[in-house]
Amino acid sequence: MSPRLDVARVKADFPILKRQVNGKRLVYLDSAATSQKPLAVLDAMDRYYRECNANVHRGVYTIAEEATAAFEAARATVAAFVGAGHAHELVWVRNATEAINLVAYTWARANLRDGDPIVLTHMEHHANVVPWQILAAERGVEIRWIPLTPDFRLDLSGLDALLDGARLLAVSAMSNVLGTINDIRALADAAHAAGAHVLVDACQAVPHLAVDVAAWDADFVAFSAHKMCGPTGIGALWARPELLEAMPPFMGGGEMISQVTVDGFTTNEVPWKFEAGTPAIAEAVGFGAAVDYLADLGMDAVREHEQSLTAYTLDALDRRFGDNLTIYGPRDIEARGGAISFLFEGIHAHDISQVVDEEAVCVRAGHHCAKPLMRVLGVPATTRASFYVYNDEADADALLDALVRAEQFFAF
Ligand SMILES: Cc1ncc(COP(=O)(O)O)c(C=O)c1O
Repeated sequence: MSPRLDVARVKADFPILKRQVNGKRLVYLDSAATSQKPLAVLDAMDRYYRECNANVHRGVYTIAEEATAAFEAARATVAAFVGAGHAHELVWVRNATEAINLVAYTWARANLRDGDPIVLTHMEHHANVVPWQILAAERGVEIRWIPLTPDFRLDLSGLDALLDGARLLAVSAMSNVLGTINDIRALADAAHAAGAHVLVDACQAVPHLAVDVAAWDADFVAFSAHKMCGPTGIGALWARPELLEAMPPFMGGGEMISQVTVDGFTTNEVPWKFEAGTPAIAEAVGFGAAVDYLADLGMDAVREHEQSLTAYTLDALDRRFGDNLTIYGPRDIEARGGAISFLFEGIHAHDISQVVDEEAVCVRAGHHCAKPLMRVLGVPATTRASFYVYNDEADADALLDALVRAEQFFAF
């Protein structure tokens, strides 16, 4: 049996959750947008600045060496957390968006030609859509789309035809709107059989599931620290080492070079070849601390906790609101994560989120950076509640009570 989360203890680790808003206990249900940060992360970053702040890979004095060691130790920690074979398979970037752009601007521009097909899905975040649309406008690559089934999963009935001749499949491991978890290994097998590479947008998966890039057999995996208890300003791109070796650099400047003369430059080794300029050092340290924190909780326990809280909430939403509320996402708890998107009949998503804010309940309303998906769903926006390690049934109950009030408010 997997260990259970002690949510009361976890809550106590997050200082912001002690806050009151409008005189009420803060109920934070927007972790799909960004998670809250535990003391362990705040302390690690504070300690770094207080004790060994210096630029990395440059100075030979003691605190510069300590800073470099902390920066690279964090890389090893994050790399191991996602099953990388070596720390150097992990490139620091600002966020998942930059990781995907890095692949689009380096690997894709070096390898894709006019008319080459790329396969995306209708549930992608704009971060995994727009870089490919920019490429399509510039290079004429053809974008193909995997549609959805009526139960909000990928419709794979036409996958072979979509992958025919494709050079890349770029797919989310977990939808930030629907919560749908995609079977990445099966998709990667199909893509590789067709000769395509596989990029996984793991921005919602790494925070909530045990991820193993080797078991996925992916080629590129992108994720952000800020959605997994870490700071903003840092994310990671994992890629197969042979791909990283062959890819041209992304941005030019300090750190990414080995030699520079008036005639040109040679690149640094991987992964620094992709890390131009002074990196987000304190943020890397914070990212490492966040991963240590999650590893201590245990990702199986995290997943089990979120599944049970999601099941509880879906069931309660059904019982309280029946047909007045539509939930956009799979009902099978094994096939989804803890992002629950919904709409009340006749009430705008933003109006709901404003009214529940009066109860100090933070939910997100809007298109969730997934406008193609909104169009497929036939709605302009949804309200989304999303859970993480510090949420419990009392938080779900607070949401339900606030929604009852909102529904009553708009009934008049
Ligand atoms: C599925 C998914 N992909 C990509 C992103 C982009 O993440 P970031 O803004 O950290 O680059 C998000 C953020 O919401 C997301 O949910």
